[in-house]
Amino acid sequence: MAVTTNNKEIMNTGWHFGTPVYTIEKPEWVSSAIKATDKYIKASEKSMQKSLKERKKFLGNKDYLKVKDHGLSYHSTPLNGDPDLKELEQYIGATSWNLLDEWGYDMSLYTMFYTEFWVQEFAKQGGGHHSTHVHWDNHISGFYFLKCNDKTSYPIFHDPRAGAMMTKLPHKDKEKISQMSDQVYYKPKPGTLIFFPGYVPHEFAVDMGVEPFRFIHFNLQAVRNIIVDTAKGMK
Ligand SMILES: [Fe+2]
Repeated sequence: MAVTTNNKEIMNTGWHFGTPVYTIEKPEWVSSAIKATDKYIKASEKSMQKSLKERKKFLGNKDYLKVKDHGLSYHSTPLNGDPDLKELEQYIGATSWNLLDEWGYDMSLYTMFYTEFWVQEFAKQGGGHHSTHVHWDNHISGFYFLKCNDKTSYPIFHDPRAGAMMTKLPHKDKEKISQMSDQVYYKPKPGTLIFFPGYVPHEFAVDMGVEPFRFIHFNLQAVRNIIVDTAKGMK
């Protein structure tokens, strides 16, 4: 409660500039999405052999065997247009448009496009992670989790307001999430689908390598229809 000091009056509080993180459970697509993405992970493991060979050369065989693929991630090529992921791709695209529309933006003037839609699996030897980042030039970002449990990595979101971050103070209870928390984490299950605004910095906690950790990451950009239409005319 916002109480004044002298007269103990309660002030009206207007909380503004909040940041939504949306979650929904879609377990029904997990097994087919794992099956569909197996080939991409296999291809990535194959293409990563070159990097692992370089690592081996740099470290020497003895030290290489201590770490192998520790800290790496197996990233796929774009999944867009894969017929086995069509329903998921359409669902994410349409939902992203809906979210921007719900925020009050005039989406009649815009069309959503995927800029990134890829699968990744963290290293078998553990250490897989992503440091804090945003995917610039996008409006909606998100994840669909395929392989994870309470022993694997998980996403952490940071307060996107740079000014707010600069003026934070330590919390009395660090476990308690408040409007002034500087970060929040989610422990996903296979099938957890998360959407968030593209400006939200996010990271992935260091994975211990106990169980496989695989997820699809996506970013979408709203492009003005006038640009889309002009581009069509230029073909
Ligand atoms: Fe990301």
